[in-house]
Amino acid sequence: MIYITGANGQLGQEFKKTALGKSATFLDRTQLDLADLTQVEDFLKNNKITTLINTAAYTQVDNAESEKDLAVRINFEAPVLMAKYAAEKKFKLVHYSTDYVFNGEGFRPYTETDATNPVNFYGQTKLQGEEEVLRTCPEALVLRTSWVYSAHGKNFFNTMVRLAGEREFLKVVFDQIGTPTSTIDLADITLKSLDKNLSGLYHFSNEGACSWYDFAVEILKLKGIKTPVYPIHTKEFPTPAKRPCYSILDKTKIKTALDTTIPHWGEALQKVAGTF
Ligand SMILES: NC(=O)c1ccc[n+]([C@@H]2O[C@H](COP(=O)([O-])OP(=O)(O)OC[C@H]3O[C@@H](n4cnc5c(N)ncnc54)[C@H](OP(=O)(O)O)[C@@H]3O)[C@@H](O)[C@H]2O)c1
Repeated sequence: MIYITGANGQLGQEFKKTALGKSATFLDRTQLDLADLTQVEDFLKNNKITTLINTAAYTQVDNAESEKDLAVRINFEAPVLMAKYAAEKKFKLVHYSTDYVFNGEGFRPYTETDATNPVNFYGQTKLQGEEEVLRTCPEALVLRTSWVYSAHGKNFFNTMVRLAGEREFLKVVFDQIGTPTSTIDLADITLKSLDKNLSGLYHFSNEGACSWYDFAVEILKLKGIKTPVYPIHTKEFPTPAKRPCYSILDKTKIKTALDTTIPHWGEALQKVAGTF
């Protein structure tokens, strides 16, 4: 049986629309609470698992600075338990990590072998998680991705559309550069990777690069919203967690392994905005 955690998250919701929508069992927080390690271990022990896609995570980057124990349990301890059972029972584990494992001081897209050095606690927990998952179960697949959004759920795309309806103008940082990733393409690459039984660490985002400001401008343009957007510096928008100012991922490894191309973030955004 294929199991997918984080059923109500952005990526979990996207998997429901794929070929796995009918065949997999989707688990939300009430069915499998990753903060309850006894419950996680019981689930891993007692079920016949062929594939476990772990989309669940503690993703509130700012709150992770204060809810440290919880973030560690969900992003590190629970995935490592999954990896232990994946190695023992020989099922496929797919896990996700983040561009926030990097400190952003790079000047060219980060490869899988570049040095990590997270600047916030969320990034630390995700890094510990991916490293220990792969140490415990080298056959697992870990996809590091960035700036994930979809038409559903709490994310930058929906936040910009909502705020543009409530405010006269928006101010968005223009000095953090990365690449948005549509859940449509992230779910799709996961399925392609499973087909080829990829193992190890791979980077995946859409192609291209932009600032959050560029992303916001494009979102509102595609949605036909006229609210002005002004660029600001990160220091004008203080947050509890620091963010890397540059986190573009080099996707050569996965493109080569799957002999595939990846849509540009602008094209992916058109699909999500319903204008493609
Ligand atoms: N979002 C991004 O920008 C981003 C960037 C890079 C990497 N990633 C990684 O990509 C993966 C998918 O992210 P996403 O954007 O789909 O995340 P998301 O939309 O925030 O969804 C995360 C899901 O995890 C669930 N969850 C949280 N705590 C849980 C717990 N204790 N037990 C069980 N489930 C729990 C949430 O449940 P509720 O629905 O009940 O809250 C939610 O459904 C994650 O590994 C994330 O770290 C995300």
